[in-house]
Amino acid sequence: MLSEPTLIWVPTEPVAQALAGLTGASVEVYPPDGSDLPESVANVEFYVPPFFPRTDAVAAMKRMPKLKVVQTLTAGFDAVRPHVPASAVLCNARGVHDASTAEWVVGAIVAAIRQFPYFAAQQAAGRWSYQFTDCLAGKTVLIVGYGSIGQAVQRRLTGFEVTIRRVARTARPGVSPVSELPELLPAADVVILLAPVTTETVGMVDAAFLARMKEGALLVNAARGVLVVTEDLVAEVAAGRLSAALDVTDPEPLPPGHPLWALPNVLITPHVGASTPVSARTAEQFVRDQAERYLAGQPLLNVITGDY
Ligand SMILES: NC(=O)c1ccc[n+]([C@@H]2O[C@H](COP(=O)([O-])OP(=O)(O)OC[C@H]3O[C@@H](n4cnc5c(N)ncnc54)[C@H](OP(=O)(O)O)[C@@H]3O)[C@@H](O)[C@H]2O)c1
Repeated sequence: MLSEPTLIWVPTEPVAQALAGLTGASVEVYPPDGSDLPESVANVEFYVPPFFPRTDAVAAMKRMPKLKVVQTLTAGFDAVRPHVPASAVLCNARGVHDASTAEWVVGAIVAAIRQFPYFAAQQAAGRWSYQFTDCLAGKTVLIVGYGSIGQAVQRRLTGFEVTIRRVARTARPGVSPVSELPELLPAADVVILLAPVTTETVGMVDAAFLARMKEGALLVNAARGVLVVTEDLVAEVAAGRLSAALDVTDPEPLPPGHPLWALPNVLITPHVGASTPVSARTAEQFVRDQAERYLAGQPLLNVITGDY
């Protein structure tokens, strides 16, 4: 007797196309809003939540009694994890977004230090506003969260004539433990956040952390907004002591009228670090590879077992 194909639910047509021709699988693109899920929801075994997981899309997992694998399109999985049933494994897309996100980090640092937002505003007003700016060369850059993206940032910073310091949860040669942050922060001109959301990292960048940062330093957040206590950052930047480049904020989206919008030394982008065709293509290929592994009974990659 022929066995039923494994039902894989994906959020978009491009992801479905990437899975085309998989032997033993049936691939469905689920509806863009979760209100009207087809009956086949009960047979989903392999589920790919949307890139920005909506509440309805994560809640849909409750209606998947046969669910075995949840494969995110993102490296971060904080919005998905609480909804994954015990019967299923959660895999993230660690590694998939390294190029795009690291490129955003380096671009944001250069833009902030060379004051591109200021010059863009002058350009919009039709003003030739010549002025000196600071320069990245010669500065000390501290990577807080020296994982997959942190290492990609370091590779890209090679050639910028900077000194790089690294912090991770586990100390290793060339990488300092979190406990050394108080000594490392005052020496850094640029502090890049690239740690995942955990009980330790939520709110880690608070008034005390920011107070340890050097006068005039730049805080770069490409991780998640909740790592930073927003009101503490607003206070430091408003006082003119620090500047910031943020791809992620808390809350997100940042509402109109939020104090962060009005601060001159803050560069904000709307969580676009990994929103590039390179990331999308790499994610689609990764999902295909994972589905092939699953269908062949091989071990999956990026299985989340501990904090991340
Ligand atoms: N802006 C965007 O569009 C975008 C795109 C992709 C990812 N992200 C965010 O970036 C995060 C990092 O991604 P990744 O793929 O590089 O993750 P990863 O490879 O798992 O690396 C995470 C790093 O953070 C370190 N870490 C853990 N807890 C820490 C703590 N309390 N203090 C300092 N460092 C700590 C880890 O230390 P160990 O090495 O010792 O484990 C590891 O080096 C993701 O979780 C996601 O939220 C954002």
